[in-house]
Amino acid sequence: MLKNFWYALEFCSRVTPETPSTIRCLEQDIVMTRDAAGSVTAYNVARPDDEVLPAVERYGFIWVFMGDGTIPVEAAAPIPVWPEWDDPRYGGHEVKGDWWWKANVNRVVENGCDAAHTPFVHAGQFGNPELPQVPDYDVEFPSDWEARLSVELHPPAPKGIFGLGNKMLRRDLKDRPPVLTRTGWQLPNLIRLEVNLSIGQLVIYDTNIPVDATTTLTKWVSLRTFFTGTWADKNAAKRVPPIFVADAEIVENQRPELLPYDLGAELHVKSDAIAVAYRRRLGELREAGFDYDGELIVGSRPALVSA
Ligand SMILES: [Fe+2]
Repeated sequence: MLKNFWYALEFCSRVTPETPSTIRCLEQDIVMTRDAAGSVTAYNVARPDDEVLPAVERYGFIWVFMGDGTIPVEAAAPIPVWPEWDDPRYGGHEVKGDWWWKANVNRVVENGCDAAHTPFVHAGQFGNPELPQVPDYDVEFPSDWEARLSVELHPPAPKGIFGLGNKMLRRDLKDRPPVLTRTGWQLPNLIRLEVNLSIGQLVIYDTNIPVDATTTLTKWVSLRTFFTGTWADKNAAKRVPPIFVADAEIVENQRPELLPYDLGAELHVKSDAIAVAYRRRLGELREAGFDYDGELIVGSRPALVSA
């Protein structure tokens, strides 16, 4: 678990003047409140009289700087850029939800950017067990804080309205083309998944909140460039939890529960390259003192509080 990073802790819409929200992160209860003017304040329950925690609203989330006071917030890694959020081509801003894992955050993040498990773990959903090969891929590093890979997968045709849309809108396609899929991590805890279907693009962001060493709370939002009307939101939302159900079978049963430090301990095949990059980066951050080890999360002036 990493300290001294910005964490997306709660959906903005869940924090109103009437309804504050408390989210546990790094073993500490963080309360987020909103005043009548719309401004958000975050503080640590363990230190109610202390200065507030830096908090900012972006991409429909409240981001809180989970610092121990050793690094000024100005020197922190930036909040990642999610270009789709403000892009008018994307609908689905309200397609979101929560998922609880009995697993360490690093296991959850690694699973989220693993390209090889899809045909097996998600067979019958978007995985195709008949075409399980993962083509070689390169890991790209768009910044010091993120990595991503691109692969062409061969999922079965989508069901329901996505499938119907596919049939109606893309009559020109005789054979189902491969689906260009991008996945990757953004530190400290985020996954970005991009699926390029023939009818348009689907992008899912997961913020994987390290509640404690063996509990993770994922909050996700799913954006799309097709069927952007709110009428399709319910259908789009329904497609996400079954993915987590299948992943939980794997993620919650991995042992040891914490990621091994030794890079060679579990990762052996080429398709593990993005996980290797993740563990290497975690190792560097551990060396640099970013590992959470029971420190109190405290305010760091100047607090950035904005509506
Ligand atoms: Fe998965």
